[in-house]
Amino acid sequence: MSPFRLTRTLPEDATDAALRADVLAGLSSTPKSLPPKWFYDARGSELFEEITGLPEYYPTRAEREILLNRAGEIAAATGARTLVELGSGSSEKTRHLLDALTKLDAYVAVDVSESALTQAGDAIVAERPGLQVHALIADFTAGLTLPDTPGPRLVAFLGGTIGNLLPAERAAFLTSVRALLQPGDGLLLGTDLVKDERVLVRAYDDAAGVTAAFDKNVLAVINRELGADFVPAAFDHVAVWDAEREWIEMRLRSRTAQTVKVQALDLAVDFAAGEEVRTEVSAKFRREGVRTELAAAGLDLTHWWTDAEGRFALSLSQVQ
Ligand SMILES: C[S@@+](CC[C@H](N)C(=O)[O-])C[C@H]1O[C@@H](n2cnc3c(N)ncnc32)[C@H](O)[C@@H]1O
Repeated sequence: MSPFRLTRTLPEDATDAALRADVLAGLSSTPKSLPPKWFYDARGSELFEEITGLPEYYPTRAEREILLNRAGEIAAATGARTLVELGSGSSEKTRHLLDALTKLDAYVAVDVSESALTQAGDAIVAERPGLQVHALIADFTAGLTLPDTPGPRLVAFLGGTIGNLLPAERAAFLTSVRALLQPGDGLLLGTDLVKDERVLVRAYDDAAGVTAAFDKNVLAVINRELGADFVPAAFDHVAVWDAEREWIEMRLRSRTAQTVKVQALDLAVDFAAGEEVRTEVSAKFRREGVRTELAAAGLDLTHWWTDAEGRFALSLSQVQ
């Protein structure tokens, strides 16, 4: 039993049903795609942590720099007593917020990765015995019910993870976050910014091949959970910048013509040589776009901070 409260808001078989539905829809469509949330089993979460330390992967360092410099201002502007973090992962950068939010009573971490929540929860409870820590295994796109903790509430969504949602999903997501907030509450949002294509592509296709291993991990998840026979080595990892939509796409490209069976779905999936499966979109943002998307969800952007090189932004918004 963990010393913090770990809540599963979805029954385990709901996760299984969601994976089945996503794999069936995604691999039966043209072009093929898979949602990025399925990267994050224990191995995927570990690989993501490894990515955050890669020389090419600037977003984590840039966001940490902003948090280090601005956590005091964030604390003063919000007076938060509860910090809710969506897609919290290792909660590593969050420590800067936990240090600065001196009025904090509760930290609520929300993630699909049970292993990441358990490790982070254990560490935070050990470091901060006075803090109530709740860990919620939940899909942040599926409507959240948060524990009853004192306000004001600050919802943090860091790491640029919002960029993994498609525009319509982002609009629905921001509206659902707005519904969690009362007057006086805030949203702290990390957004990666549009920049030189070469810098962006390198960040998603590193020399050591860690991002490639992370990308292919989704195949291992489908093999294990749905009895599929993907051979990860039969696919290449590709990162492409879409200049019109201003997003990076990660894709897995089939090296040859092949058929993959997914036993649990009674499905045979044909791949042509060179055919790609889109596994992640990572949208990059500009200030006005962020302001407009927040406003459409009923949130006023009140603060905008970037790192010294202008690579990444943290914004604070409040209920209109
Ligand atoms: C890009 S990582 C960012 C992790 C951390 N916030 C950071 O900034 O380093 C995305 C995190 O969100 C989680 N995640 C992805 N999709 C999710 C979803 N639909 N619901 C809940 N968590 C999700 C993943 O397990 C992972 O921990």
